[in-house]
Amino acid sequence: MEPHADKVKLFILCWVKYKMIDPFFKKGDPVLIVYKGQREWLSIVGKTLHTHVGVFDLNDLIGKPSGTVIHAQNGKRAVAYRPRLREWVTKFRHESQIIYPKDAGIIITYSDIKPGDVVLEAGTGSGALTAYLSRAVAENGKVITYEVREHAFEAAKRNLEKLGITNVEQRFRDIVEDGFDVDDNSADVIVLDMGEPWKVLKEAYRVLKPSGTLTVFIPTYNQIEATYLGMLEIGFEKIEALELLARPIQLKKNAIRPVTRMISHTGFLMFAQKIVKTLE
Ligand SMILES: C[S@@+](CC[C@H](N)C(=O)[O-])C[C@H]1O[C@@H](n2cnc3c(N)ncnc32)[C@H](O)[C@@H]1O
Repeated sequence: MEPHADKVKLFILCWVKYKMIDPFFKKGDPVLIVYKGQREWLSIVGKTLHTHVGVFDLNDLIGKPSGTVIHAQNGKRAVAYRPRLREWVTKFRHESQIIYPKDAGIIITYSDIKPGDVVLEAGTGSGALTAYLSRAVAENGKVITYEVREHAFEAAKRNLEKLGITNVEQRFRDIVEDGFDVDDNSADVIVLDMGEPWKVLKEAYRVLKPSGTLTVFIPTYNQIEATYLGMLEIGFEKIEALELLARPIQLKKNAIRPVTRMISHTGFLMFAQKIVKTLE
């Protein structure tokens, strides 16, 4: 193709992409209403939102961009935003303890998850981590997520549908009993957030690509030990374990300091890589 034709094609692609991410609110869009930077409500453009600070007519937002100031019928001021992914996810219907944004962030960076990757996940739970993984692998990647409880499977399906996610395949399957239904050496990353992850380490080793990362989220020290010993036995290398603490800071004039209450423990993370075993 001529270089000029390439440029025209690129321009058209960018334009279509730009138009798809409509910057203006439409009726039916999700919206986050934030009052004084402290209280917030997730609602839908076009609805009437009743709160303890006042009643907001969200029809007023149609055609306006995210970040628009909106006034309640009593004159109280709030700001309307398009919800960011973590704001959506923390308001998901929870079927289980969900992965917090701080842990999702480090899972993605330490596992080196990138656009185009194939990521396997077990269990799906409420689909919170699935949503972050879906964004990280992007449109040319894929997340295959496994769940053994029907209730959780259905709840995650509803949660993920609301986000319009299309690069996730949900599978109803017991990973301990039946293993992963994928080929050997086919996954870039496997993420386990389920009871007794040490029972699937052998299977994880089989389906990971050489040097692929296995990531495990576990809430107790005993589980770290069981997982560590299992990883050693199977032959994983570069094994790491860590805990990430996020301490919010109170932003108040003349009183900037850590908040007095925080979530002190969510879970521990372990990372390990598969190697190519050779005869030594
Ligand atoms: C803590 S939740 C996962 C939460 C999820 N990471 C999230 O962010 O929403 C653990 C899930 O693992 C599922 N699970 C446990 N054992 C499993 C197995 N053998 N195969 C598939 N899923 C399993 C449970 O049913 C549960 O829903």
